[in-house]
Amino acid sequence: MTKYIFQLGRNTHISIAELNAVLPKNTNFIHLQNDFLLLETENINNIQEFLNRVGGTIKIIEIAQEHQNAPIPKVISQLAYDKFKDREDKVRFAVTVHNLNGTDEKQMKNSLMETKKLLKKSNISCRFINNNFKTAPIALLLGENIINKGAEFNAININRNWYFGETVAIQDINEYSKRDFERPERDPKLGMLPPKLAQILINLAEVKTGQTIYDPFCGIGTILMEGLLMGLNVIGSDLSADNIKKTESNLKWLKEQAPQLQNSIRLFQKDATQTQKKDLQEKISAIISETFLGPPISKYPTYSQIEQNQALVGGLIYNFLKNIYPLIPQQTKLVLTLLTYRTENGFHKLNKIHQTLNTLGYNKIPMISKEAIQNLKLNLKDSESLIYERPDQVVCREIIVLEKK
Ligand SMILES: C[S@@+](CC[C@H](N)C(=O)[O-])C[C@H]1O[C@@H](n2cnc3c(N)ncnc32)[C@H](O)[C@@H]1O
Repeated sequence: MTKYIFQLGRNTHISIAELNAVLPKNTNFIHLQNDFLLLETENINNIQEFLNRVGGTIKIIEIAQEHQNAPIPKVISQLAYDKFKDREDKVRFAVTVHNLNGTDEKQMKNSLMETKKLLKKSNISCRFINNNFKTAPIALLLGENIINKGAEFNAININRNWYFGETVAIQDINEYSKRDFERPERDPKLGMLPPKLAQILINLAEVKTGQTIYDPFCGIGTILMEGLLMGLNVIGSDLSADNIKKTESNLKWLKEQAPQLQNSIRLFQKDATQTQKKDLQEKISAIISETFLGPPISKYPTYSQIEQNQALVGGLIYNFLKNIYPLIPQQTKLVLTLLTYRTENGFHKLNKIHQTLNTLGYNKIPMISKEAIQNLKLNLKDSESLIYERPDQVVCREIIVLEKK
């Protein structure tokens, strides 16, 4: 077993749910401090490849040492010396120090200086990349190719213990933005599902390479794109023929970018409340979808707007769930995002849908184990509903995982 610190994305509960789904079941979730999650799990091979498939984690640090009290600059400079002692080229390095309150600039500066001094004294040519002794942002770490050309050393204080280790994987933000912004078709009116969230939804379904997923509200195909990249066969449908064309062209573009992708794609135009047996001949392992979010809205909606849109969207989801029920095998998982409005008084979810799920024949599946919720002291009543939001968004998404009874 190996200890790691995962630095999580903004929606930490959702990131934890994703890790709960993709990491082995014997993973021990130890502590959460701000956005740093300490866990112990089986050693992760090809950890950068692993991270490339996980949307909710920004950085992974492998823990080499832990101390209650330690001279941070001394430990870090020693780690750097051990790492670089046989190097003949000029090495680059970065240092990050986080105490319980955030970045510890004084310790960072001292660690950078002491490391540089020790390496120089040992005739190891080096430079550090932290500008003004501040934490190196992800873009800089990637630009400097820090993992392959050097190293980032970290000291993170979690639950009053200092954890020291190297960064072993970094979220490839350039790849995500290429998939998001360089594809031929984009449509801000559709709500712009970020590729990272599409990965999270797919991971929550716990599907295996080679299986088939279906998105009945496929829009311009974000989930299908990520599914293909994760080695899945994909089926997509949408009410709008225009969106099906856009999905087609996005998937074609993706295959041009990554010709090794061989899995199958099938698209058809259909109202998701009218799908029939003949539309779904393949064995579908999971339905994964960002469902209809209602008409675009930018400022806080009025209560009558909320009621009107929720009735429209709720009715659609109800009819979709009822219609698809006989077409899928028992225990098929459905990972869905549902319309949720942020108002001045909190979130407004599609509550009526929640009340009908049981009668429709679906169970809600918790997304985080009870043990992890307890260990990490998460402020959650249950994990059957998690909200994905950005502070500037009025239209947010509630994530649910259903299983056909
Ligand atoms: C929020 S978008 C999905 C966006 C998609 N995840 C993406 O990234 O492109 C919802 C989609 O639902 C489709 N839609 C609305 N009503 C529908 C219905 N009754 N059946 C099927 N699709 C429908 C819309 O055309 C739209 O493409």
